[in-house]
Amino acid sequence: MIKLHDLYFKPFISEKEIDSTVQRMVDEVAADIKEEVPVFVGVLNGSFMFVSDFVKKYPKPCEVTFIKLASYEGVKSTEDIERLIGLTQDLTGRIVVILEDIIDTGNTLEEIHRIFENENVKELKIATLFHKPEAYKKDFKLHYIGIDIPKKFIVGYGLDYDGLGRDLPEVYQLKTTQHMTNFVLFGPPGAGKGTQANFLKETYNLVHISTGDVFRNNIKNETALGMLAKSFMDKGELVPDQVTIDMLNAEVEKNAGANGFIFDGFPRTNAQAKALDELMDNKDSQINAMIALEVDDEVLVTRLLDRGKTSGRPDDADEQIIRNRIKEYYKKTAILKEYYMAQDKYCGVDGVGSISEITERLIKVIDRL
Ligand code: IMP
Ligand code: MG
Repeated sequence: MIKLHDLYFKPFISEKEIDSTVQRMVDEVAADIKEEVPVFVGVLNGSFMFVSDFVKKYPKPCEVTFIKLASYEGVKSTEDIERLIGLTQDLTGRIVVILEDIIDTGNTLEEIHRIFENENVKELKIATLFHKPEAYKKDFKLHYIGIDIPKKFIVGYGLDYDGLGRDLPEVYQLKTTQHMTNFVLFGPPGAGKGTQANFLKETYNLVHISTGDVFRNNIKNETALGMLAKSFMDKGELVPDQVTIDMLNAEVEKNAGANGFIFDGFPRTNAQAKALDELMDNKDSQINAMIALEVDDEVLVTRLLDRGKTSGRPDDADEQIIRNRIKEYYKKTAILKEYYMAQDKYCGVDGVGSISEITERLIKVIDRL
């Protein structure tokens, strides 16, 4: 992901794909032109990289020149008229191939056709590296098209967002969801995960998605997914990951305006972690970190036994049960720790201390995400 000015962009078209596309276009053009020497006309500024790579690959002699769109003030001071400048040489009888970085609405192309009307060229062909078919509103033929792309704003390989991004060798697409802070929160029983999640969601305006709660609510409200989940549970089977993912997806969609999400109780397996990555990717977002509260076993046992004295929860009263739960936690999360470590996203946070001390440590980690 990259940030230009105030906006975030994600990788979209690789250098390699651009390179093979340019090569393909060169082959098509060269095959059509045969023996004549064409004049390639790049439209500045965006096309400079495309033109450069294109003519380097072009197998036969050719001429290269550039034109540029310039804004002039219109008759009324409010209206801008765009004119192409830079066309100085005589193109009478020549084969001219316009090299465009991108054709969007086709307005620029209309202007190109207008100025070439009186040039008496032998042929005027249009080649564009990128094309947005859904945005194109003109009838001019596009002779060579590199890659059709959706009607989304892109940068890189000559294309800019307000001056930035032209220098990037690959193409990025504007993220429809801007920066969010999403993390999965882990902690052994007694680590104070619930308490901390509550503070963090207030501090950062995040939505806390506790998978257990999501399940219970779906079943209680008899949603389609809830009933589906229940049908597996009633048979004593595990609820398939896809059902859980669909529930989480609905939760994420319900809170589309959130600054981010705290996932709690999910994922538990590698497959689920991958599914969660995909879910976030579909939302043009990502999991930024696995944050795990780290507390020494003996401290946990003492805390939970203390809690058991007042809460009356039977599973908090038996030391052996507590130790087993802690062991179980480490057994299950080891895999996830590895998964997120491989993505450089694992953040262990010391969970021993006062509640506010631990919150401070978490805030330090989250502020860096
Ligand atoms: P058109 O005149 O609407 O076809 O748009 C042509 C010009 O708009 C291009 O030469 C670019 O300068 C700009 N443009 C259109 N779409 C994009 C984009 O996705 N990223 C950056 N510039 C764009
Ligand atoms: Mg252009």
